[in-house]
Amino acid sequence: MKDTPRKWATVYPELGTGPLPIDPCISPEHFELERERVFRRVWLKLARVEEIPKPGDYIVKEITVARTSVLLVRGKDGVIRAFHNMCSHRGNKIQWDDGGNCNSFECKFHGWTYDLAGELRGVPDIKEFFDFDKSQHGLTPIATDVWQGFVFINLNPKPAETLREFLGEIADRLDGYPFERYTQRFAYRAEIKCNWKVAYDAGSEAYHVAFVHKSSFPDTFSGKDLPLPRLDNIELYRYHRSADVVANPGHEPTPVAAVAYRYGGVIAKRATGATDLPPTINPTRRSDFGFSMNRIFPNYTIGVMDGIYYTHQFWPLSVDRTIWEGEAFALPPANAAERFSREYNRCMQRDVWREDTGTMEHTQSVLASGAKTHFILQDQEILIRHFYKVLEDFVGFYRKPENGNGGAANV
Ligand code: FES
Ligand SMILES: [Fe+2]
Repeated sequence: MKDTPRKWATVYPELGTGPLPIDPCISPEHFELERERVFRRVWLKLARVEEIPKPGDYIVKEITVARTSVLLVRGKDGVIRAFHNMCSHRGNKIQWDDGGNCNSFECKFHGWTYDLAGELRGVPDIKEFFDFDKSQHGLTPIATDVWQGFVFINLNPKPAETLREFLGEIADRLDGYPFERYTQRFAYRAEIKCNWKVAYDAGSEAYHVAFVHKSSFPDTFSGKDLPLPRLDNIELYRYHRSADVVANPGHEPTPVAAVAYRYGGVIAKRATGATDLPPTINPTRRSDFGFSMNRIFPNYTIGVMDGIYYTHQFWPLSVDRTIWEGEAFALPPANAAERFSREYNRCMQRDVWREDTGTMEHTQSVLASGAKTHFILQDQEILIRHFYKVLEDFVGFYRKPENGNGGAANV
C-alpha cells in the first residue's frame, strides 16, 4: 500500500490539525449538555428485530443518560413500538424485568393494564376517578423506526428528521449487507470506568492495534510490508463516518486460526474471493481489505467484513462511567467445523475487547489530573477529530451563547 503522510488532513482541511481539549471527557457540565442536546435529541440504536420476533415479545432498556427506561414491544399487528416504561397513574415503572413475552402490561402498584399498542385498558375502581377518559392515559410513546433490522428510537417527542435522513450516507453505504441473514449472535456487556467517548474513540482508529492487541493480532493489521495499521477510504459524513481497516498482506495465521478462517468469518480474517459484501464496501475488491468500520453518531459502531459483523455501543452512566455492549453476528453454523469457527471468533473478540478496556480505564484514571489539557491526534486519527466536531455542533460547549441557548444544533 502506498503511504502518503498526512493525506487525510488535505482531503478534509476544514477539520484542522490542532490538539483537542480533554475537557469534554471530564467535565460534568459537558456531560449535562450531551444528555440534553445529544441523547435526548438524536436517533439511538436500541435493538435488533430478531430480539423480539413474535407478537408480545418485549425488551426493557434502561437509558440512564436520558433518565428513562424504555419498553420496546412487538404488537399483535407485528409493528415494533417503544414507550416510556412509566405508568400513567402515579408513575411506577411498569416492567421491572429485562424482557419476555406477554399479552398486556400490568402495573404492579394498582393494577392498571395496557395493551401492546400502549393503550390503557384496565383501571381498577375506575368509578372513583374524576373526569376520567381512558383513551387519554395510554403509555407515552417514543419515536421508533427500523433500518436494516436495527431498531432505533428518538427520545425527542418531535424528531427533527427521520431515521433515514439521520443515517444518510452511512445507510447508503451499508444497505445491501446481509444483516438479516447473520442471526447467530453473541454478546458481552460490562460497566467500565471511563467517559463514554474515551471508550468510543478507541474504536475510531487502528493506530493502537499494533500495541494494545500485539498478543491477539501479532501481524494481522501490520507487519513487514505494513509497518503500522492503516485506515483507508475514509469518509466523513454529516454526523457519521466510515473507513476501511487495511489488512497485512503478509499475515500468517496460526494453524488453529487457519482452520477457523476456513469455516467462517473471524475478526482477523482477510478478504477472500467470494464475498457477502455489497459493491459499496471494498468496491475495488482489494485483497488487503480487512474490515469496514462504520461509526454511527453518537455511540454506535458497526464493523463489517465478509462472514461476520460486530457492533459496539457505549451508554453513558455518568461523566466517568459507561456501559459497554459488544455484539457479533454471523450465519448460524451448518456443521461442527463452522461451529468451531464461530467459537474461535467469540473467544478472539472477547480477548480483544478486554484488551481495549484496560487502556480505556487507565486513560480515564489520569485525565482529570490536569497534567495535560489536550489530546494530540495524528492524521490516522481523523475520525476522532471529526466526531468531536460533530459533537460540538450539537453540544455547543465552546460556542458563544446565542439567544440564550448556547446555539445547539437544531436536531
Ligand atoms: S402507579 Fe401504576 S397503577 Fe398506580
Ligand atoms: Fe482495540
